[in-house]
Amino acid sequence: MEDLKGRHLLSLQQYNKGEMMLIFETATALQAIMARGVPFKPLQGKTLGMLFNKNSTRTRVSFEVAIYQLGGHGLYLGGQELQLARGESIADTAHVLSRYLDAIMIRTYSQAEVEELAANAGIPVINGLTDQFHPCQALADFYTIYQKKGKLEGLKLAFVGDGNNNVTHSLLLGAAKLGVNIHVAAPEGYEPEAEILALARQEAENSGCSVVLGTDPVEAVTGADAVYTDVRTSMGKEGEAKERRHTLAPYQVNSTLMAAAKPDALFLHCLPAHRGEEVTDAVMDGPNSAVFDQAENRLHIHKAVLGLLIRGKELLEAMAPLLGDRKLPRVAG
Ligand code: CP
Ligand code: NVA
Repeated sequence: MEDLKGRHLLSLQQYNKGEMMLIFETATALQAIMARGVPFKPLQGKTLGMLFNKNSTRTRVSFEVAIYQLGGHGLYLGGQELQLARGESIADTAHVLSRYLDAIMIRTYSQAEVEELAANAGIPVINGLTDQFHPCQALADFYTIYQKKGKLEGLKLAFVGDGNNNVTHSLLLGAAKLGVNIHVAAPEGYEPEAEILALARQEAENSGCSVVLGTDPVEAVTGADAVYTDVRTSMGKEGEAKERRHTLAPYQVNSTLMAAAKPDALFLHCLPAHRGEEVTDAVMDGPNSAVFDQAENRLHIHKAVLGLLIRGKELLEAMAPLLGDRKLPRVAG
């Protein structure tokens, strides 16, 4: 039996469908325990270091609140304030932080930096966003779809906009593993990285779903169960903002585009949104929008991830007596 204790979460590439479903079921069970008002502090005495080299609202707040509500402590580490900014190596930083902390969440530019941190850390390292991946976001996104639609397999997710960013890459890997058909519509030059697209296509063959890349937003959205977009200019790409605004203009998610999706299609966005650019107010604030539930789900997913990566099966055992008739999440085989 697999146990997530001690595992890193660097990208969804290292997680299979059973492990993702375990995270979802654990998130739901933790919410049920909290709703009953029973004190449950499985991470008492545990500290999460949260290292940020980029801005954040949701990731910072939801991770800090998640560990606090589970009895632990979240420690904000501004990248510019650490000795890292004065040349201390990533490896030395990893060795030292591993002597104090129980897990590290890092948001930075380079995926290679996160991988180097993990390779030298004796504690779980969680990717809170790099230029290439945003795995915690994608977990919260699929959890939101699962909650709202009651299933994942066989659904169609349309992504419209910048296909070459962290969110699209993580959605591609997650969808392919979870059996969600994914159709990305992006302009030429904004396609997902070829290697990630190839990996997703390989995974989709195993799960029996489709991974489609095109340039036509209407084609992508037609018949979709969920429509997703992200900002035109991701953090770190500000120098390309003008060109991106121009090229990505036909990829706005507005009411006309949403009309091509199923009538009950969800509208999703990782946020922050630039209203009036990639999405209109009418869609963001419309009846199909799930963006704020999606943001809330970051909190529930982070609780499950922290609990499972820090305590593994012990977390599930501690939850069992508090769940009453509810089924205990199963450890993925
Ligand atoms: N979606 C997301 O990661 O938001 P923040 O940048 O505010 O953390
Ligand atoms: N693609 C966006 C996601 C923000 C949560 C960015 O990297 O800025």
